[in-house]
Amino acid sequence: MIQHTDATARPTAPAAVFDWLDEAAELRSRAGLTRTLRSRPAQDPVLDLASNDYLGLVHHPEVTRAAAEAALRWGGGSTGSRLVTGTTALHTELEVELADFCGVEAALVFSSGYTANLAALTALTDPDTLIVSDANNHASLIDGCRLARAQVFRAPHADPVAVGAALADRAQPRAVVVTDSVFSVDGNAARLPELSAAARAHRAALLVDDAHGLGVLGPGGLGLLAAAGVAGGKSAVATATLSKSLGSQGGVVLGPSRVVRHLVETARSFIFDTGLAPAAVGAALGALRLLRAEPERAERAREVARTLADRLTAAGLLASVPDAAVVSVRAPGPQEALGWAADCRRAGLAVGCFRPPSVPDGLSRLRLTARADLTDAQIELAVATLVRTAPLLATTAR
Ligand SMILES: Cc1ncc(COP(=O)(O)O)c(C=O)c1O
Repeated sequence: MIQHTDATARPTAPAAVFDWLDEAAELRSRAGLTRTLRSRPAQDPVLDLASNDYLGLVHHPEVTRAAAEAALRWGGGSTGSRLVTGTTALHTELEVELADFCGVEAALVFSSGYTANLAALTALTDPDTLIVSDANNHASLIDGCRLARAQVFRAPHADPVAVGAALADRAQPRAVVVTDSVFSVDGNAARLPELSAAARAHRAALLVDDAHGLGVLGPGGLGLLAAAGVAGGKSAVATATLSKSLGSQGGVVLGPSRVVRHLVETARSFIFDTGLAPAAVGAALGALRLLRAEPERAERAREVARTLADRLTAAGLLASVPDAAVVSVRAPGPQEALGWAADCRRAGLAVGCFRPPSVPDGLSRLRLTARADLTDAQIELAVATLVRTAPLLATTAR
């Protein structure tokens, strides 16, 4: 047994090894950055403008029935990674239908949108690639950039000219332009036609995370790529989550067949991850078929967002102009934003609260998500609650 002298003694007893976590928690608490988990009741009486269920499909009987039938037939889990035992006929069916819906050659389903983004960024780049990534991109794209063995240029937000300049100046033979389709904080859409033109002009690939566009933008919810006329392009790849409009769970990469083949054979977050659970595959298929049968749901989600924004602006609040289903409303500061969201909840309205450091521009806001199934009366109630509980200065926040 090793005897430690004073000089070699361990600095901390085993029980104290994680003391630093308490100190870090204390620092976060003092900075107002504590995050807490709150469990949601199955039948929540609160009016929900905080979830990402844009089309109101999460509880749709056809979606929940499809999930239950898939679990009964295929089991509670997928049993393994996609390349071993985790691919069922249902996974293949979903991939064929998603590719057909989005107008691309092929689709590959992942266990989440997060792993789909990691896969696309790491497998489609190498040290000879420049990644040009919008400064406001989602954390999963940022993490994909960090994992990729490529140089990354963080382009100013929504600036296709800066993207074109970075592509033109690059030393690398390859490049990928990476953008959210709809930015999750403010709900503004990427300038896809210009980005696509810049990518084409400089022989770069285009990777678009359509998490907030699929099911909402374009005719019948085909997504931003279809709306911008770049779906199905030979150098365009889209990713999406199945957890927002499609009311399920999981992610997908959509694009040319050779891209999908490359991901199957090389993407670590595909190969070393258990396949999506059958219930989630079934729910996503059920939701996709509903969307195809009822394409007006997409337009209704956009209309609800526009109405919310118009009514809040008319009441003097600083609401964003929504391109899809997300509306943000400016708050005077982080504490006011927190208090406003808490007051809304006490009044029966759930809203999101975004504040530094999780906002790219340091501005605090409430984030509202429109849902296609909201009634006009619910929209009125939400607006009245937000206006009644608004902090002083919410109309002039900077
Ligand atoms: C833009 C964007 N991309 C990717 C994701 C990750 O998707 P998932 O939750 O399926 O991992 C999200 C959020 O969930 C998102 O908002």
